[in-house]
Amino acid sequence: GITRHYKFNIVMQNVTRLCQTKSIVTVNGKIPGPRIIAREGDRLLIKVVNHVQYNVTLHWHGVRQLRSGWADGPAYITQCPIQTGQTYVYNFTVTGQRGTLFWHAHISWLRVTLYGPIIILPKKHVSYPFPHPHKEIPIIFGEWWKADTETIINQAMQTGGAPNISDAFTINALPGPLYNCSAKDTFKLKVKPGKTYLLRLINAALNDELFFSIANHTLTVVETDAVYVKPFKTQIVLITPGQTTNVLLQAKATAPNATFVMAARPYATGPAAFDNTTTSGILEYDNPSVSSSKKKKHPLLKPSLPVFNDTTFSMKFAKKVRSLATAKFPAKVPQEVDRRFFFTVGLGILPCSQNQTCPNNTRVAASINNVSFVQPNIALLQAHFFNQSKGVYTTDFPANPPLKFNYTGTPPSNIMATTGTKVVVLPFNSSVELVMQDTSIISAESHPLHLHGFNFFVVGQGFGNFNSSKDPAKFNLVDPVERNTVGVPSGGWVAIRFLADNPGVWFMHCHLEVHTSWGLKMAWIVTDGKRPNQKLPPPPSDLPKC
Ligand code: C2O
Repeated sequence: GITRHYKFNIVMQNVTRLCQTKSIVTVNGKIPGPRIIAREGDRLLIKVVNHVQYNVTLHWHGVRQLRSGWADGPAYITQCPIQTGQTYVYNFTVTGQRGTLFWHAHISWLRVTLYGPIIILPKKHVSYPFPHPHKEIPIIFGEWWKADTETIINQAMQTGGAPNISDAFTINALPGPLYNCSAKDTFKLKVKPGKTYLLRLINAALNDELFFSIANHTLTVVETDAVYVKPFKTQIVLITPGQTTNVLLQAKATAPNATFVMAARPYATGPAAFDNTTTSGILEYDNPSVSSSKKKKHPLLKPSLPVFNDTTFSMKFAKKVRSLATAKFPAKVPQEVDRRFFFTVGLGILPCSQNQTCPNNTRVAASINNVSFVQPNIALLQAHFFNQSKGVYTTDFPANPPLKFNYTGTPPSNIMATTGTKVVVLPFNSSVELVMQDTSIISAESHPLHLHGFNFFVVGQGFGNFNSSKDPAKFNLVDPVERNTVGVPSGGWVAIRFLADNPGVWFMHCHLEVHTSWGLKMAWIVTDGKRPNQKLPPPPSDLPKC
């Protein structure tokens, strides 16, 4: 591969949406930010210069970062933030992956405006396992708040309550005509009759899973989270925050006398107030034979999307996605398991802390195995690498839930969570099975869990309580989907397997930003292997200091 250089200047920029102008944090003044394009095997050197008053880190979501954990980016996990005036060069190679991923800020709520696509093309002269598209178009979903989002989340954390919901969803940072004064801020996709298009869908929204559809068009799913899947046709795609999905759009053979709406709106199951509005864009056929005055009279066809809480659709869709599992693209599912874990994920409450003002003296928390993660003051990776864990983290993260109860039935009377900066240590190359069970504390809710540093295989999923004596027999160890973010079904469970072949500290968290803020996160430490090429190299000299 070659080395590709990018320069990311973090700068403020005035942007107007929904009739209001505000100053936002951007990369190079753009939203969405710059597109990173590389080929499998290339090295990327991304020089980030922070010109704003906020501390910043960037994360290359889904990039495996094999032995390059110092470039992963989550604040206080793999690095201290890049402070005002500082520079950090993210240095990593994309190996064994090709497809769509994305980058985003990984500190506080800055990812609202700091995000952009990562496109990893196959090696030269290697083709896609599907028809070569005429064009490839990234479609990134986001959220927009009229108010300053850093203020919103800081206030929410201080008052122990929920943050304000967003004012709009967006497609490529444009809300579309269903929102107030946004007709001109509409994403338009022009297609030629008979051609095939590859849409690279990315959910960069903060707090909502989304349904997406294009009126009168069928989409063929060919890849998720930068891994090819068995192609299947669908009208509607479900995509959680943190997931990416490549779909083929086959334009009709002759240009129809119609304009088509593409739309996305949330799939949400919890009690938390959610934004139930719809972002939309336009699919238009390039048809020179029709005069533009006639085009205006075209009917506007709208897609139909499932209702916001359609959990049945969500489960059906998730089960359709399978690894390609061919000789060329095998599914390397771990067949044996060295370490087994059972994690409950969900909401709970915590006592109010000193600097907070909370109703009833409690605040909402989110936890894994009842532990609500507390962010350390120095990066876990540094503490681990330099053997300075004392006072930073403990290695007693529970492998099983401390309370046994009927997870999807009546919650226990004590829903108080505990706090700590706890990690699990995994020996190099151990193969891990992790079952994640949604709890019904406060309410059952779907949680998109994201693991840094690895792809995992989704070997099983279902509703209700996981049954350890019956369910494993039904696991798919042949062609399960391989991904980096999976929706733990609302009132259900999911089982994943991965090989811990990447030494370092790896964050795992709910990709609903509000749940991350509330503590639904933890970290894995994978030890070095014996051979030199199984060890994490020392940090780069420009790694920011805390
Ligand atoms: Cu896309 Cu830890 O994040």
